[in-house]
Amino acid sequence: MTSTVPPVVSGGYPVVGHLFEMLHDRQSLFKRGYAEHGDVFSMKLGPQWVAVVTGAGYNRQFYTETDKSLNMQDGYGFLKEAIGEVLFVASKEDYYNQRPALLQVFKHERMADYVQAMNIEVQRWLDSLGQAGEVDITQAMLRLTQSVAGRAFIGPNYEQELGEAFWHHYKAISASLDPVLPPTLPLPKFKRRDAAKKKIHEKLMTLIQKRRDHPEQYDDLITTLLSTPLSDGSIMTDETIVTMFMGLIFAGHETTAGQAAWLIALLLQHPDYLDRVKAEIREHIPAGQPIDGGVLRNLTDIYYAIDETTRLRPSADTQIRTVEAAMTVGTYAIPAGWRMMVSGDTSHLLRDTFVNPEQFDPLRFSPERGEGKNPFAIVGFGGGIHKCSGMNFAKNEMAVITSLFFQQFDVELLSDDIHVVSGSGANYPSAVWVRYNRR
Ligand code: HEM
Repeated sequence: MTSTVPPVVSGGYPVVGHLFEMLHDRQSLFKRGYAEHGDVFSMKLGPQWVAVVTGAGYNRQFYTETDKSLNMQDGYGFLKEAIGEVLFVASKEDYYNQRPALLQVFKHERMADYVQAMNIEVQRWLDSLGQAGEVDITQAMLRLTQSVAGRAFIGPNYEQELGEAFWHHYKAISASLDPVLPPTLPLPKFKRRDAAKKKIHEKLMTLIQKRRDHPEQYDDLITTLLSTPLSDGSIMTDETIVTMFMGLIFAGHETTAGQAAWLIALLLQHPDYLDRVKAEIREHIPAGQPIDGGVLRNLTDIYYAIDETTRLRPSADTQIRTVEAAMTVGTYAIPAGWRMMVSGDTSHLLRDTFVNPEQFDPLRFSPERGEGKNPFAIVGFGGGIHKCSGMNFAKNEMAVITSLFFQQFDVELLSDDIHVVSGSGANYPSAVWVRYNRR
């Protein structure tokens, strides 16, 4: 019989509950909650009760109830002041109205241009490395994913068009993200955020106007948004185009950077599998030639490694919703007003879903073994209607980075204690120092 709320994980403190552990070490918090109570447990973040669920069945309920009993935008309220009310931060009505534009940005036909942008920027990065040296891959991926996003969404002149200050301003916005403090407090970091937003807004408004004046000269994200009718037949306002651009950069850049850095680190930590990946590169990617969609389609071992990285080291290890209408999860009652979260740290390590789940074993995704086939077993790219629109973009970007890096360089891992850092936008690895020699 359903009656009680889920049991509470140990370790909370008066008033703040589990807030600080959630902010600084949620992996341990979620794993402890699962060990103590199983698939559904609760915790308290300050005054807010939260139910945490694990496993494909409950994850499915989480994603399919989104926009019904579960509301997506409230949980991400702290993003509103930073990037504006767009995508999953917008109201449900606005989200569905804007959705045709989102689909247009990620439609299949655009991927060839995006992959070309990835090739150019990855090759520029590799050329900048010289013959030999040492580099921190974690930092390098942050810069590289910025350049890829710039070229893919603004076009070949993105450096002049966005200007040098753009990423500096973006960093001030990203650094201001705070899921705890009210975002309107007169704190220095919030003042820096507002100043940066103003600068970025002015810059992007100029770019929008240039494209409106000369649409024939451009074919990029802004022209796509300027020419795609929304569900109600209207065209996106300039303000919304600015927030859409910021939303896409926010959703796509630190997440991809963290995952790409983990992918390289995990491959270097598992030389046998890396040899397999190198053999695949030799077989399918001719030296000196760009990688196109046809080449990507021939790669399997790299994509298994990407999926295994998403499972073991998810950049987006958790997602949050607000419970709008009371609901039942398993044998528990979740009252309206609670929050609900999925947990990659526990879902991705379930023994009945994954064999030896702690091990890096990309071939688990091969058709012969077929683990993790349930689309809700892994939450790293979300699920349901709001499942990551940029997933193929991100996976292809990681494939291009890995292929060209290991094709052109011999690489040795120098860092020996690489651990997860919980960032404000996404999780990423601590420094991944490598020594490289051009082949
Ligand atoms: C490894 C890299 C990435 C990861 C781990 C990731 C993860 C996620 C997750 C977990 C969600 C769902 C959030 C939720 O349900 O609460 C999401 C949504 C989204 N992501 Fe990604 N993402 C990545 C890359 C990208 C890229 C490169 C882009 C765009 C260039 C992008 C754009 C989006 C958008 C637009 C949404 C919202 C979709 C919607 O609400 O319909 N993401 N992402």
